[in-house]
Order: sequence, then structure tokens, then C-alpha cells
Amino acid sequence: MIGLKVSHHLLLCATPTKAKCCDPTVGAESWSELKRMVKELGLEKPDRPEGIVLRSKADCLRICERGPILLIWPEGVWYSDVTPNKIQVILNEHIINQNPVQEWVHKETPFRHRNA
Ligand code: FES
Repeated sequence: MIGLKVSHHLLLCATPTKAKCCDPTVGAESWSELKRMVKELGLEKPDRPEGIVLRSKADCLRICERGPILLIWPEGVWYSDVTPNKIQVILNEHIINQNPVQEWVHKETPFRHRNA
């Protein structure tokens, strides 16, 4: 993993311990679909020119409503009310086509870039 170029990191609050933001059933289905799609689209291949896509299941992303919540770095885009079908669209549009799905965006918190 060290030295690999990373294009995106996907964090999904899917099955939180306290289940504040979502139905854990929808969350678990969304996480399964995310894992399946990342593999199917070849996003974890080390030789992917754009860099690999990392995925993590988070216990809570501090939004705690309208989940499952999907956070995508480096853009800092937070998607709410995620479903398996939305995962398919988001990965194709946001990750492959570099075009975030604005109608599903809950909020955006992009990193501020430091001047070199
Ligand atoms: S429980 Fe999902 S964001 Fe907090």
C-alpha cells in the first residue's frame, strides 16, 4: 500500500453501533454494493492510472441523520440517504466520470490547499 497513488477514499457510515443515522439493513446492503462495485470497476487495481480507491466502513461520521452517509475524499463530498442503487450511480459518475451527483450531495467540506 505504501507508495501507491490514491485517487479517492470512500467512507461509509453503514452499520453504526448506535444506529442513529440509518436503517442498518440498508446500510449493510449499501456497503456490500460499494465493495462489489469497487472490485467490479477495477478501482483497487494497483496499476490504475488515476490511483487506487480506498474504502472504509465508518462507525459514525458525525452527521447522524439521513444515512447511510458516504463521504468521498479528496473532494469532501458528503452524500446522504445512500442506497445500493445510488452507490452504483455515485461510483460511476463521481469516481469514474469525475462528476459529483449534486442532487444527492448533503454538504461539501473540501480540504484547504496549503501553498507549497
Ligand atoms: S451514526 Fe451514521 S453518521 Fe453518525
